[in-house]
Amino acid sequence: MNGRIPQHFIDELLQRADIVEIIGSRVPLKKAGREYKACCPFHGEKTPSFTVSPTKGFYHCFGCGAHGTALGFLMEYDRLEFIAAVEELATRLGLEVPREGAGQAQSPLAPVYDALAAAAAFFEKSLRTHPSAVDYLRSRGLDGETARTFRVGYAPPAWDSLLREFEDTDAERTRLAAAGLIVAREGGGYYDRFRDRIMFPIRDSRGRVIGFGGRVIGSGEPKYLNSPETAVFHKGQELYGLYEARQAERRLTRLLVVEGYMDVVSLGQHGICDAVATLGTATTPDQVRRLFRAVPEIVFCFDGDRAGRAAAWRALQASLPEVREGRQVRFLFLPDGEDPDSLVRKEGAKAFATRADAAVPLSDYLLEELQRQVGSDSLDARARLAELARPLVAMLPPGVYRELLTDRLSEAVGLRRERLTAALGTPSGSNAPAPARRPRPVPGQRPSLVRQAITLLVHHPELGRTVTVPPGLDTVRTRGTALLAELLELTRSTPGLTPGALVERFRERPEGPHLAELLAGQVLVGEAGAARELADSLQRIVAQARDERLAELVSKAASASLSTEEKDEFRRLQKEAAGIR
Ligand code: GTP
Ligand code: MN
Repeated sequence: MNGRIPQHFIDELLQRADIVEIIGSRVPLKKAGREYKACCPFHGEKTPSFTVSPTKGFYHCFGCGAHGTALGFLMEYDRLEFIAAVEELATRLGLEVPREGAGQAQSPLAPVYDALAAAAAFFEKSLRTHPSAVDYLRSRGLDGETARTFRVGYAPPAWDSLLREFEDTDAERTRLAAAGLIVAREGGGYYDRFRDRIMFPIRDSRGRVIGFGGRVIGSGEPKYLNSPETAVFHKGQELYGLYEARQAERRLTRLLVVEGYMDVVSLGQHGICDAVATLGTATTPDQVRRLFRAVPEIVFCFDGDRAGRAAAWRALQASLPEVREGRQVRFLFLPDGEDPDSLVRKEGAKAFATRADAAVPLSDYLLEELQRQVGSDSLDARARLAELARPLVAMLPPGVYRELLTDRLSEAVGLRRERLTAALGTPSGSNAPAPARRPRPVPGQRPSLVRQAITLLVHHPELGRTVTVPPGLDTVRTRGTALLAELLELTRSTPGLTPGALVERFRERPEGPHLAELLAGQVLVGEAGAARELADSLQRIVAQARDERLAELVSKAASASLSTEEKDEFRRLQKEAAGIR
């Protein structure tokens, strides 16, 4: 897994990725002509200056200068490393990220994944041969189709059902143990971890089985047994049902976070396919980040009882560092004694969806909860409320959202905003400095011919395949011609390169930001005119260089005599100048 990701794969990713969908699932976009607009997620603003161009495969904010491709957006917005952003895009498109020189070299974890896949298949098969397990699922109202969608299975009661499916070698035992499927006995040997349990396979974002949740049939302790942490299974990062939700609905707009495996499965059976569950632990910031990578809205769904309230409060705290403009977190509290599974079976999908739609926004829940904690409306209570709010507000990233919440708090506390901000001890978001930017070219100053040609190529890479490169361009030494030549060669030899992918190729290069800025700007010529314009600029670059050289030779001749070569050059250039123009 260490080889480089081939450049052609990144080109392909950017060509196939729908930048509007990727950004649109995180920031609400509005169509405006051929582009899409939104309030910029990277700085606080009230009127939209953030623009996404599907044709360029590029976004740009005229307010703060933020810009980039779908990959760049994932890196900035989701705070992903380059490789992780590539993997995220690839996963969305169902592609495997290839590695240069990887070839046969297998990931060291492949045997673990294989064991988990084989185990999942075995549990599925066992369900078909154990009518008592099927009866249990029926008694809980589960139909066969849903069971297949979630690949629900059954682990037989014996201590060695799974063991006997694999060869009795040290190598096999070791990988089953590494997968968390078998447990070492004190006196030597192994036994199956999961016995006589309904098995829910947990899949990662690519659909690979990474672990299991196993429910006892009927009553018994523990009710649920999960896979232990392994090299491929990390409870605090995974979400049960996320892969299945993405399979069911490509354009997810929100995700419902519930507590149990059965809740996810049962909601799915009722057509509510956007539910996921944490794996028996409190929601972690990692999980919130993953959810926001998929959708702009999360609805947490908890029991209305005390335990549910406590879990909701922890989910709120895990969410605070991730909420900002364009992202929503809401809370749905269910009637006492109900969980999503029991409720959707009792009320039906429509009523449940109505409840979800009416879930309480995070800010409302936060205020209500704090007010409930401080009790009365006395001056003391208000002071305490401000005190309790302080660490919570501090967890929010600076920005419009934090401003809005501070406004609401000041209303509740009855302090003027400025005094509350001081009391809260947090800097005001909108006054935070905008990210540093490169200076823009002075308006009115004519862009150089080289710059113009580069701009046209960046906006229309396909022109590189058809444009006629005039002879002599390779001898021109004016500023930027080396980059221009490189771009001409790149676009000529890479069909299908999108503007975004072109700029992406220069990510690590000093020219990168410059090219991105050119792409972010407007080109004034239309598509049809671009081809002529580019050919013309290239011609003029050659001509201009020739004119300069001619002038140089003329002025030299005025003060000293020219060498024979210089005289030849002078004649050649003059002839060329006369011929071409
Ligand atoms: P059903 O009783 O089958 O409807 O399951 P449920 O999903 O309603 O279960 P419950 O509300 O009791 O638990 C919610 C989630 O907490 C489960 O899906 C598990 O992930 C986890 N959980 C419940 N009981 C246990 C347990 O005994 N051990 C562990 N590790 N996790 C549990
Ligand atoms: Mn339940």
